Amino acid sequence: MRLAQAACALALGAVIATAVAAQDLADGPTLFTRCAACHLPDGAGVPGAFPALRAQIGRYAADPAGRTYLVSVVTHGLMGPLTAGGVGYAGFMPAQNLSDAEAAVLLNHLVSVIAAPAVKVPDFTTLEIGALRKGCEAAGAQESRALRPDALGTAP
Ligand code: HEC
Repeated sequence: MRLAQAACALALGAVIATAVAAQDLADGPTLFTRCAACHLPDGAGVPGAFPALRAQIGRYAADPAGRTYLVSVVTHGLMGPLTAGGVGYAGFMPAQNLSDAEAAVLLNHLVSVIAAPAVKVPDFTTLEIGALRKGCEAAGAQESRALRPDALGTAP
């Protein structure tokens, strides 16, 4: 677990540009429909089954470790017991098949529209997603759990 964390942190230094075909890119609301299947269309979640994507999302987005965690969750999925907004979860979120550009659009929608309260943070860019993903290709849902900044996620 510690190794995965170190590799992901190191990858931050290696920024690789990725070409984006902007015209083929789905928008945030469209991409979020896949999340809504579990977390509900407004991100309210289902207590005990699917965590609400609310105040903790803004806290993650405002914190470097939290941003790494968000990218890992939408890339590799998530598995392992956790407490979010004061409620316990021991579920499994499958990996989401998103390009770097799609992940950036999706996370910006999550932070600025779904999360409550919405926070003003730097946009996720294709570049940042690519850098955070580099070196973590073999990671899985459990590595995401190891990356979670619990202090930011647990509070209401
Ligand atoms: C098949 C159901 C399912 C889908 C689809 C899904 N999730 Fe999840 N998600 C979960 C479950 C279950 C958890 C909690 C996992 C655990 O208990 O370890 C979770 C956890 C999370 C967390 C961590 C919350 C925290 O406070 O740590 C985030 C962020 C998240 N999901 C975002 C998303 C986004 C964004 C999408 C769409 C790209 C998505 N999820 C799609 C089921 C799902």
